[in-house]
Amino acid sequence: MEEISKKRIFSGIQPTNTPHLGNYLGALRNWKNMQEDYDCIYSIVDLHSITVRQEPAKLRRQIAESYALLLAIGIDPERSVVFVQGHNPAHAQLSWILSCFTQFGELSRMTQFKDKSQKHPENINAGLFTYPVLMAADILLYQADVVPVGIDQKQHVELARNIAQRFNNLYGDTFTVPEPYIVKAVQKIMSLSDPTKKMSKSDENPNSVVSLLDDRDTVLRKFKRAVTDSGSEVKAEEGKDGIVNLMSIYSAVTNKTFDEIENEFKGKGYGDFKTAVGEAVADTLTPVQNEFNRIIADKTYLEGCMKDGAEKAYKLSRRTLQKVNKKLGFINL
Ligand code: TYM
Repeated sequence: MEEISKKRIFSGIQPTNTPHLGNYLGALRNWKNMQEDYDCIYSIVDLHSITVRQEPAKLRRQIAESYALLLAIGIDPERSVVFVQGHNPAHAQLSWILSCFTQFGELSRMTQFKDKSQKHPENINAGLFTYPVLMAADILLYQADVVPVGIDQKQHVELARNIAQRFNNLYGDTFTVPEPYIVKAVQKIMSLSDPTKKMSKSDENPNSVVSLLDDRDTVLRKFKRAVTDSGSEVKAEEGKDGIVNLMSIYSAVTNKTFDEIENEFKGKGYGDFKTAVGEAVADTLTPVQNEFNRIIADKTYLEGCMKDGAEKAYKLSRRTLQKVNKKLGFINL
């Protein structure tokens, strides 16, 4: 039978904190499911994380934990390439090259740069500014067709497309032009304490964020405290941002539609609904946590997977880098 080659996907997650429910529902769960139909490459993007100061011991732990969590949610290191970005030097190398094909004005328009420089006015470093170029290098290095992300990363993927097209126009076909892949229903999971803000690893209020490693009691407590409006009807309506966010989460973990959820909670108050959402999320996280505990305890296995992933990633990326070098007039040895 004729072998049909699968499309390739690349995606990454920063190890700046333990991945949370927004990361899981908006991105990681897709990463797992997409293994069926795509050739997948996933990275813990440690280089990206130092645009904001990190504590070394904590960062080291979080890189290992994030990697173990990817395996725990069902990403198979035999089938997909799973690696730590800093283990493949080609990312930094292509990033420099691409930065010479990216305009200052383009980078100045990136909303994440504007937000983060407002948040950290004392440290608006060049890395924060060129962050999207490194992200473009991550994607283009592997000739990815599709990039699964939450909506907050769409602008960065669009920049990667523009850079790829610009380079291709100048030097002939070099890079695959990637498409973002965004699951609409969970494109932006909001904070539990302020449903107008996205759930974010850097949120200072721990009640805003459900970590994938929170135990059952913590999960239940956080959902019980989730900020909602002063009404009592579980209904997806204007002005009910908190309830709509909880409905999105409940829908994502139970596969129930909004109509089914509204029917289920007809005549019941917000309290009952919050408890049900907490229980459903905790039920989803328990098997992931059991698997995580098993993997993180096996250092030899974890390091073996990292090493293997880094080798496979390097091999794939070297082809692109050599092609780029040749087009630019550099000498490949
Ligand atoms: P990061 O680490 O912030 O987030 C990882 C993934 O989770 C998604 N996400 C969310 N989805 C729904 N609701 C939320 N509240 C939420 N918060 C985060 C993000 O959209 C992302 O898909 N720059 C990237 C990492 C990166 C990358 C790449 C991604 C580096 N290189 C190349 C794709 C391709 C980031 O900071 O993601």
